[in-house]
Amino acid sequence: MNHYFTNNENLKSEIKRVDTVIHSTSYYFYTDNGVFSKGELDFGTELLLKTFEYSFPQEKTLLDMGCGCGPIGIYASKLGFTVDMSDVNRRAIHLSRMSLKEQELKANVYESDAYENINNKYDYIVSNPPIRVGKEKLYEIIMGAKEHLNENGELWIVVRKQQGAESLIKDMKEVYRSVEVVTKKKGFYIIKAI
Ligand SMILES: C[S@@+](CC[C@H](N)C(=O)[O-])C[C@H]1O[C@@H](n2cnc3c(N)ncnc32)[C@H](O)[C@@H]1O
Repeated sequence: MNHYFTNNENLKSEIKRVDTVIHSTSYYFYTDNGVFSKGELDFGTELLLKTFEYSFPQEKTLLDMGCGCGPIGIYASKLGFTVDMSDVNRRAIHLSRMSLKEQELKANVYESDAYENINNKYDYIVSNPPIRVGKEKLYEIIMGAKEHLNENGELWIVVRKQQGAESLIKDMKEVYRSVEVVTKKKGFYIIKAI
């Protein structure tokens, strides 16, 4: 079975550019077959970015975990964050790099299974996590973020109610100092953990 997170080099390429505006920040990213949310900005990702609150007293670092074709990391780079992005999907990594380069934006894009190749700590980790990989890997990504956050660092994620948001929140409360549902819309929860 082909999932958007498996690498399938034989899949025909049909690159599409998606132009978007979050608040007043405009940017674009390229999508393709075999990557998440082909041809559009995912509703959950859009809600996450529109809800995401940040402060800039000094230089801030941000990790886009499971970056896909890059809508989170590219936005953050455009806002002025120092950005790392990572994914297991090589086609997604290629698309993210291409979009960044064309828009003269900077970010390091890593091929990494969860935090395997991530050695830094961040002020923010922002993710639309891969629910379909199963609970074990999902928890490695969500609970593992704690080890990659600076003191008072924040994890921001989007999860659907039908995908188990309520029980995830309960489990996150065992790991994080504070867990808050910042907003809910159409069954999507935006969760912030400190
Ligand atoms: C729901 S998609 C979100 C993609 C992108 N951030 C967006 O909002 O459009 C989840 C992403 O996680 C990636 N992923 C799956 N398993 C992963 C793993 N073990 N480590 C890192 N990323 C993974 C998938 O390839 C996919 O790009």
